[in-house]
Amino acid sequence: MNTTNDPKTILDPAQALDDRFCDAIRAVAPDLPESQVKAHIGPSRQPKLGDFQSNCAMPIAKQIGMKPRELAAKIVEAIDVSGIAQPLTEESIAGPGFINVSLLQEALGTALDAMDSDQLGISVPADPKTIIVDVCGVNLAKQMHVGHLRSTVIGDAIARIQERLGHEVKRQSHVGDWGLPIAMVVEQLSVMEAEGTDISKVSLAELNTIYKRAQAKCKAETRALEIIKKVGGHVKAEIELSERIADAEAAMEKSKSRLVALQSGDADSVRIWQLIYDITMTACLATCKRLHANITDEHSAGESTYRDELAPLVQDLIDRNIAVEDDGALVVRCEGIKEPTIIRKRDGGFLYATTDLAAIKRRVGKLGGDEVVYCVDSRQSLHFKQVFAAAHKAGYDKTASGSDATLVHAMFGTILGEDNKPLKSRSGENLNLSDLLDEAVMRASASVAEKNPEMPQDERDAISEAVAMAAVKYADLSTERIKDYAFRFDTMLAFEGDTGPYMLYAIARIKNMLRKAEEKGVDLNAAADAPFSLNEPAERAMALMVLRYPSILSAAGSSHEPHRLCGYLYELASLFAKFYEQCPVLKEGVEASQRDGRLRLSMLALRVLEDSCKTLGIPTVDRM
Ligand code: ARG
Repeated sequence: MNTTNDPKTILDPAQALDDRFCDAIRAVAPDLPESQVKAHIGPSRQPKLGDFQSNCAMPIAKQIGMKPRELAAKIVEAIDVSGIAQPLTEESIAGPGFINVSLLQEALGTALDAMDSDQLGISVPADPKTIIVDVCGVNLAKQMHVGHLRSTVIGDAIARIQERLGHEVKRQSHVGDWGLPIAMVVEQLSVMEAEGTDISKVSLAELNTIYKRAQAKCKAETRALEIIKKVGGHVKAEIELSERIADAEAAMEKSKSRLVALQSGDADSVRIWQLIYDITMTACLATCKRLHANITDEHSAGESTYRDELAPLVQDLIDRNIAVEDDGALVVRCEGIKEPTIIRKRDGGFLYATTDLAAIKRRVGKLGGDEVVYCVDSRQSLHFKQVFAAAHKAGYDKTASGSDATLVHAMFGTILGEDNKPLKSRSGENLNLSDLLDEAVMRASASVAEKNPEMPQDERDAISEAVAMAAVKYADLSTERIKDYAFRFDTMLAFEGDTGPYMLYAIARIKNMLRKAEEKGVDLNAAADAPFSLNEPAERAMALMVLRYPSILSAAGSSHEPHRLCGYLYELASLFAKFYEQCPVLKEGVEASQRDGRLRLSMLALRVLEDSCKTLGIPTVDRM
């Protein structure tokens, strides 16, 4: 409990108020269980009435059978807010029992002073955790599509937030690089090579086509034949289909033996596989880089890296009676989940779930994860429920200290097109991510050129690229990840509103102001030590928002929800716009002390805006 009255020691006014309110609640409702002593302090909904409000009177009054306003009056009478806020009176109570609080100028200034450090008020955790974040997860021989935009961009932001909060983060990209589909492509390439194609020159787009062709080639139209046979009288069609099925079955057989060859390390198969791997990953990592996602080669931990761990893992589960036979397959049944987790098929093959069990074992056991966060599509939610439960049953989630690691599926929704259906290309295929990014840059460069006709071309290009990436990333990050959202270039690229370009614009505007100040001979170093200017409502509002940064970041971290930080960024950028409009800084007639106090406030806001963008992985620009 912090009940010091010295404003110089108040670092976080919201926390200090919380403490004081809790003391007052305990005094007026001594029988209230401690778990219900909650101050419910938040920013004021009506800044005219105060800086903060406590909503505690309503729930507590209900609990103890009192009228909320009456309870509010008692709290107001009992509370001691000296050193933090203006004294509370009957006047402080509004509506059904909200209690409004206005901070003392001095307390606000001290809190800002304390925040104005390298760390921006974010303290190193007493007990830093190791957090594994499952990001990206592309599949071999396929181009990245919009779904991988989300696992890359949100996954990287989740990782960055934890890093910023002081935890140790290890990114893992669970690349789909093993199994029958890949063996099909290996088989195809091997045939092409035998026919004289130089397969080392194949592009990812071509690989993608080969992948689809291979899949089609192995797909037996058995069901169609059954129907035709049932209908009868289509002898020619029956013969043709039978032939096609025979071909497909033969192709499938070849792919299966190719898989066996690959799995047993056959040199030629491995060579072709490696080629497919390199082609895919070179393109994928280039896209990650373009997206400013910190995902590199060292983070790739594809399914193939678990290949030697699967058989022993399954054996371990059999030995301990955790996995049982079910109709020839091997399954793990977990309480509360209807569908058993299949870990070995009847034909002896392992599955997606088997690999993910091995991944948990490695991530917790070897990599030391206290927490493993999976940034994966919500359509895989049953898979993760099953895998988490099975891993727990097997004890694969035990950390070195003997506690259970936290396994989280930080799932995301689907990106929709204008028609509110999953975003697809005109021919109905998954939309290629690089094409989408190219289009964003093209569109952004039109606006950037319009706004900066004088700017040299190369600078304009660099800005357009950053604006486009910021726009696409911000649009993806700013909606609650669990929701679907519609992908609209016009909206996301707008310079006004809740968009990436708007955040970049706010930053560029402050930088521009600082450049102008220097041109006018203002000493910015001296301004950085000036007392904050906090008299105007727009200054106070911005100052209070700046102070919320650490708690917002921590909330975004514990929920793995980057959109909370985006919402904050938008609020701060909007408050800066208001401040900029209402509080002249460099204008003729503004006194030096006020100018410096406003410059210092702007510089602190700038650092918080930049830090937020960096923590989200959003690139910024110096001018735009
Ligand atoms: N490769 C998978 C896909 O594209 C995503 C991998 C997700 N991560 C995992 N550990 N299963 O759907």
